[in-house]
Amino acid sequence: RSYTIAVIPGDGIGLEVMPPALRCLEAAATRFGFKLEFRSFPWASCTYYLKHGTMLPSDWKELLQACDAIYFGAVGDPATVPDHISLWGSILAFRREFDQYINLRPCRLIPGVTSPLANRAGKPIDFFTVRENTEGEYSSIGGMIFEGTERETVIQNTVFTRVGVDRVIRYAFELARSRPAKKLTSATKSNGISITMPYWDQRVEEIAKEYPDVQVEKYHIDILCAHFVQRPHTFDVVVGSNLFGDILSDLGPACTGTIGIAPSANLNPSSRREDPNTPWFPSLFEPVHGSAPDIAGQGIANPVGMIWAGQMMLEHLGEKNAADAMMRAIETVLGRAKDGAGGGLNILTPDMQGKGTTEELGSAIEQEIARA
Ligand code: NAI
Ligand code: MG
Repeated sequence: RSYTIAVIPGDGIGLEVMPPALRCLEAAATRFGFKLEFRSFPWASCTYYLKHGTMLPSDWKELLQACDAIYFGAVGDPATVPDHISLWGSILAFRREFDQYINLRPCRLIPGVTSPLANRAGKPIDFFTVRENTEGEYSSIGGMIFEGTERETVIQNTVFTRVGVDRVIRYAFELARSRPAKKLTSATKSNGISITMPYWDQRVEEIAKEYPDVQVEKYHIDILCAHFVQRPHTFDVVVGSNLFGDILSDLGPACTGTIGIAPSANLNPSSRREDPNTPWFPSLFEPVHGSAPDIAGQGIANPVGMIWAGQMMLEHLGEKNAADAMMRAIETVLGRAKDGAGGGLNILTPDMQGKGTTEELGSAIEQEIARA
């Protein structure tokens, strides 16, 4: 087995967390007997933009479509390039052009990482947020009328297509079915948003009939946010529209500790590279965090979000054993360090109350994977 991976480090700490993460993936490939070919691209970064006046080369699509998956660091250097240029010109273009309609984020309490909520809940946190990633509230339909007058008015419409709503809900049901708890929570706001949200609820009810083994519940987004904070241990798979999913997919990882450990997958689960009749749309794996200009260049960024994103990528490519081993290695190294063993606080990065560096923590996880 052999996979070609597009590697895009981006800006800031993206450039620092990528090398140790690639070594972890390499260790997993060696240990579990498959090959990874990394193709590194300097674009989709502000450095590239400042040199070329554009975020992407004209053939970026073909270059990425020649790969099995995209491994993305972080983009953004707000001091030199406005965020709407750098993000719309890179990661958002990938999501849209490759129809990556699922944004999937695990929220899990990792041994050794202190959650702001751990003591309150006293129970393990282990759930996924599934966000619709292509339509909904984030449409470009709308505009301004009566500009510059007292009657100035802006309108932006929400777009829910049957195909778009059904495919994300069905993906969430399938994920719930594959997990022991088999529970799906749907985010809604049908008490206030009276056309699109009742439609969303209706599609959830309809598709639920195909999954009698999955327990379904729905909450309005406002109280659901409160439940995330007060009882995060009760969730299993949580599905939401583009806007609600965006909110929940940042709140979820925040409930499990530092943003530095959280990964994210932008998936097109229906695209098949081997199918000659449809275009190939690769999926993209990235940490939740951005380029962190405030700590860039110091070598202290937490590499776990990047490494965990690599773990999701291996799982997506079908390398389940290697993915499981990577997850165990992350948990083992962090848990051991917190207990004072295996280098103790000296290998944890400062965001986890340690004194370690990106390189030290990355190497410890790499060695643990090689030993699996
Ligand atoms: P950020 O995630 O880069 O940083 C937020 C805070 O978390 C900072 O204090 C940072 O030091 C800390 N942090 C983030 N990752 C960390 C890690 N791995 N280890 C330790 N601490 C970490 O978000 P911010 O500051 O809002 O954005 C900075 C730039 O990143 C902007 O240009 C923004 O547009 C971009 N960005 C890019 C994303 C992407 O590439 N998908 C996602 C989010 C932001
Ligand atoms: Mg967000």
